Amino acid sequence: MASSEPGQRELEALLQETRRFPPDPTFARTANARDPAIYEWARRDPEGYWAEQARRLAWFRPFEQVLRWEEPHAQWFLGGQLNAAYNCVDRHAEGERRNKAAIIWEGEPGDQRILTYGQLQREVARCANGLKRLGVRAGDRVTIYMGMIPQLPIAMLACARIGAVHSVVFGGFSAEALRDRINDARSEVVLTADGGWRRGSVVPLKAQVDLALEGAPSVKHVVVVRRVGEAAGARFSPGRDRDWEEWLAAESAVCDPEPMDSEAPLFILYTSGTTGKPKGIVHSTGGYLTGVETTCRLVFDLKERDVYWCAADIGWVTGHSYVVYGPLANGATVVMYEGAPDFPDRGRNWQIIERYGVNIFYTAPTAIRAHMRWGPEWPARYDLSSLRLLGSVGEPINPEAWMWYWEHIGGKRTPIVDTWWQTETGAIMIAPLPGLTETKPGSATRPLPGIEAEVVDQQGRPVPPGAGGFLVLTRPWPSMLRTIWGDDRRYRETYWSRFPGRYFTGDGARRDEDGYFWLLGRVDDVINVSGHRIGTMEVESALVDHPAVAEAAVIGRHDDLKGQAIAAFVTLKEGVAVEDGLKEALRRHVAGKIGAIARPDDVFFAAELPKTRSGKIMRRLLRDIAEGRALGDTTTLADPAVVEALKAQYQEEA
Ligand code: WTA
Repeated sequence: MASSEPGQRELEALLQETRRFPPDPTFARTANARDPAIYEWARRDPEGYWAEQARRLAWFRPFEQVLRWEEPHAQWFLGGQLNAAYNCVDRHAEGERRNKAAIIWEGEPGDQRILTYGQLQREVARCANGLKRLGVRAGDRVTIYMGMIPQLPIAMLACARIGAVHSVVFGGFSAEALRDRINDARSEVVLTADGGWRRGSVVPLKAQVDLALEGAPSVKHVVVVRRVGEAAGARFSPGRDRDWEEWLAAESAVCDPEPMDSEAPLFILYTSGTTGKPKGIVHSTGGYLTGVETTCRLVFDLKERDVYWCAADIGWVTGHSYVVYGPLANGATVVMYEGAPDFPDRGRNWQIIERYGVNIFYTAPTAIRAHMRWGPEWPARYDLSSLRLLGSVGEPINPEAWMWYWEHIGGKRTPIVDTWWQTETGAIMIAPLPGLTETKPGSATRPLPGIEAEVVDQQGRPVPPGAGGFLVLTRPWPSMLRTIWGDDRRYRETYWSRFPGRYFTGDGARRDEDGYFWLLGRVDDVINVSGHRIGTMEVESALVDHPAVAEAAVIGRHDDLKGQAIAAFVTLKEGVAVEDGLKEALRRHVAGKIGAIARPDDVFFAAELPKTRSGKIMRRLLRDIAEGRALGDTTTLADPAVVEALKAQYQEEA
């Protein structure tokens, strides 16, 4: 691995980490996973283990075969039929959880809505009937572009109920990004909202949809939740657009769930890869639901009376798996919050935890670091004693953030589960079982039962303890992605060609003497900004699309708060002068093309970019420059003077 990989810098310090946190005996006694033999059972008989987990779901028809593995395609629970919405809603609503809160929602302005399982069942059924009336059938794709409002999980579950495949697009993506995703999925229906609330301002959603649809001919119907009202300034196009409430006013609250084959696609979720085009990750019904139900139960130790809050946006996989499908499959009470953690003040998260008595809280290291910056006096103002477990996801958690979380949020009482996984894995892969696993701050610990991982070198050979390498998963697992929508070749190439027979994660890792995994960040052209995956190529394409830009190279550089920040090295076209405001114009241009999350933090104008003799841009050297390190090997450069000049210039300007 290149010595300049993100994360590498702190690595030596990480491996010196000596703090240990064994499970609390009281917690361990009642933990959902309390028998260490679970690991051995799953290792000896992975199919038996997974079959037993799958049987916790309600199947309309039981499966006959656990796994068919025709590398690199897995099929799980063959012959079985089930429905994800039935599993997440009806079986609770029809049993003892009918009047249990399924979703406790709080809007940013402070409005609240609580949906019991019984109410959720009726809302989902009405929405499902509305979709049918628009002509949506099993297998059709429905694009959903909303903020964090109850209609979002309702819409997802309504799709699942009739076997339609949802494609949720994060509300922070631009019109252009939305258009690409609609076109790739060829959706005929888009479900959206007029806008959403964020730090007291309106995020216009419908206006973005209108723009997106200028180049998305497949779309016949748009349904709009009036979340904001007048202030959103949404316009309705007659014949195409309708109001959500009017749409459903006359719909029945009864709708039979469609029995779906275990392998039927449940959803598509787009994520960034190494090319400019996002990949539509396809997840199945039976395998995916088994993965998220199991991990939610075992890793978060969900109990009947828990109030559970995963603070991720549903537009990302963490929200799909751990706001919607995982906890609802377990019949849990889920807290959902619409807005920003610092609105109206920096205590908002802790206020919500106190108000609803949240027991389990799951967030990202970047959020924890922001709270660290804001200071422990904010959480100290609230009663957080209801918390009994904390989770982390999205990027490596640095030991200082881990310790702060443990001390100031968990009150030195709660276990912390650092959970490593990806959009592609569907569910958590590497994490502690809180009643069984001793934790070390900064390590995601060990693969879960039924999951096998290794760290390998360039040739695919396992590396010795302490050495760095590539993280691979060595057995198929139920919630693995099935393919990339419309591009199975890319599926094979991206994940299965680098190390034949093994799934390549794109992450670097080290394993210590105890077999614990320490994640080191991406080893491909993907950067992780505040836990959000962004492809460097996507940002580069957006930059060169600007008329002033000749060439662009984008890298992730270390950032204390965001994990990584986006640095863009740009050469301008001949005759273009470096004017005041050009940097800002380029940043705005990228935000407009992709979304605010992809806005470069630094834009740096270079006379030339360092290239190899074959013309490849040496991003590794740009990373060295941006992170203020000594330059790595420059012998393969066509013109070593270019990089020296760039470095001198960067130091002067930065
Ligand atoms: C990174 C988010 C270290 C990793 C669930 C992975 C992590 C990418 C962790 C997937 C963690 C996620 N420790 N790194 N606990 N969790 N990552 O698809 O680089 O948005 O490949 O899924 O986030 O990001 P994605």
